[in-house]
Amino acid sequence: MEQPDYLPKDYDGIQLVGNMDELFAATFGPANVVLYPRSLTAAFNARAQAADFKALSLLLLDGLSEKDMSHEDLSEAASRLEGGSKKAAQQILDDMKAFESNDLKPALRIFIGKALVNLADYGGKIFQEGAHLFHGDGVPTRFLCCYTAPATEGLCNEDAERYIDSENYAQELAASYTAERGRNPYHPLPGLQGYPEKTEDFKRWLERNNDYYFPKPRARIFSFKIGDVFRFAGEKNYAGVPPFIHRGPPSNDDSSPRLVLVGDLKP
Ligand SMILES: [Fe+2]
Repeated sequence: MEQPDYLPKDYDGIQLVGNMDELFAATFGPANVVLYPRSLTAAFNARAQAADFKALSLLLLDGLSEKDMSHEDLSEAASRLEGGSKKAAQQILDDMKAFESNDLKPALRIFIGKALVNLADYGGKIFQEGAHLFHGDGVPTRFLCCYTAPATEGLCNEDAERYIDSENYAQELAASYTAERGRNPYHPLPGLQGYPEKTEDFKRWLERNNDYYFPKPRARIFSFKIGDVFRFAGEKNYAGVPPFIHRGPPSNDDSSPRLVLVGDLKP
């Protein structure tokens, strides 16, 4: 299969498949991402598609009562919709069904840009912040599809550096620790090697942020397309591959929430 032009060249971290069945059947190694590049334009014309999903995202945001929307929640909401947003909801419901029949638990998540609403109004029910940073997910594997822009971004593993190991960003980490905790990250006297010695609390803080990564200088960062369905290895995968490092970029357009379908293995 020909590699789509939005993926990095000569990178073996992404395996391509041609349909949903192959996506569910694929295994990791050496790739830590399996991608079914899919365009939704069979059911929508490209312009209408973007507008339909945007309209749907705003309608769902308006009535949001749950952190994750299940198939049941969405079909309930869809029964009150019409026209383009109903068609958009139907597309997501179909994808959720496909996830369900492959033993995944589908959940539709709604991410918003910073300025759209006061988060407190939603009782913290909307995902924010952490997902904007490059990270690995604390799961064995996860399936994703984005329906509104911007889609998930990936970072090639060779070009990523764990926060906790980072020499290049040691100062930034120390500064964000100080800002968050109001404490000095280092002991006042240098350690045995003459380097500043981290306090136990700073070490624990770094450990807690261990799933976050920095892109190295000139890192290859790529973006999936709307409609693509992909699965990736998390931090706890059993395939022995490194986790796929990714982020949900903050939306440029605060009037359009990001709609993301997540599929996790059933517990
Ligand atoms: Fe994630």
